[in-house]
Amino acid sequence: MGLSTVLSITNQKGGVAKTTTALALAHAFARRDEKRRVLLIDLDSQRNATSILLGGQDIPPERSVYALFQAKKPESSILYNTSLANLYVIPSNLHLVEVESQLTGALDGFFRLNDAMQQLRHEFDFILLDCPPSLSVITINAMVAADFLLIPLQISKFSIDGIQNIRDAVNTVNRRYNAHLKIAGGCLTLHDGRTTLSQAMLPEVEKILPILNTTVPRSVAVEEAHLMRQDIHDYAPQNKVAVAYASLAEELEAIFAHEKGGVS
Ligand SMILES: Nc1ncnc2c1ncn2[C@@H]1O[C@H](COP(=O)(O)OP(=O)(O)OP(=O)(O)O)[C@@H](O)[C@H]1O
Ligand SMILES: [Mg+2]
Repeated sequence: MGLSTVLSITNQKGGVAKTTTALALAHAFARRDEKRRVLLIDLDSQRNATSILLGGQDIPPERSVYALFQAKKPESSILYNTSLANLYVIPSNLHLVEVESQLTGALDGFFRLNDAMQQLRHEFDFILLDCPPSLSVITINAMVAADFLLIPLQISKFSIDGIQNIRDAVNTVNRRYNAHLKIAGGCLTLHDGRTTLSQAMLPEVEKILPILNTTVPRSVAVEEAHLMRQDIHDYAPQNKVAVAYASLAEELEAIFAHEKGGVS
């Protein structure tokens, strides 16, 4: 196995479907080939991805993503199985909120996640990072560790300002910490294509950020699936959102293969 492709799902705006996208893509990548190994790392102390994948399971901080931000190697395994045999998760824990202050002033503060992921890069084909809704030290750690960034978004005046901020952060990360990081693109989520506002503003957004072909529509099935702690592909495989995420996975894999010179 070569090194993993690491995809960070990032937007400092809350509620744009980062976690939904991370979960759906992780399942879609895993399902596209059962020989693959896929890992989702929950970087958000709200632990939404964790609770959907692992339910109310008790997660001690030393066996959670918190351990990845400590300068020493985790003492025990922090990989958890999910209901899909080739999909694993490193869960979050409330203690993650402490990491922000722990890393302030640490010389290697932006590199902790990247360093801790070195071994994992040999063990998985795909690693997805579900970021918190902030451009925090944790999100910068994700940008430093990632190969690609996917930005779920809805179109509005505020989202354009927000995207510019992400672009600025990516430019700084490219210059100083990770020249390798690429933006795979923005993905329109919770999308209602009929609004004339979003149609009119799309060209403005595209000046700042390439927008992927796949858009993810709204459906109540997403909320229902989350309540059942199921992936949308299990809950309603024919649903338009499940179909959209399968096609987003395909579109992203083509980008990965192209950017990596044909090796995915
Ligand atoms: N395609 C969709 N159709 C309907 N509801 C959706 C869809 N995608 C996401 N949602 C709902 O929108 C809400 C926000 O989604 P999600 O939690 O994935 O966003 P997020 O960006 O991770 O939020 P946060 O910034 O708080 O981490 C959730 O209640 C989710 O169930
Ligand atoms: Mg989230």
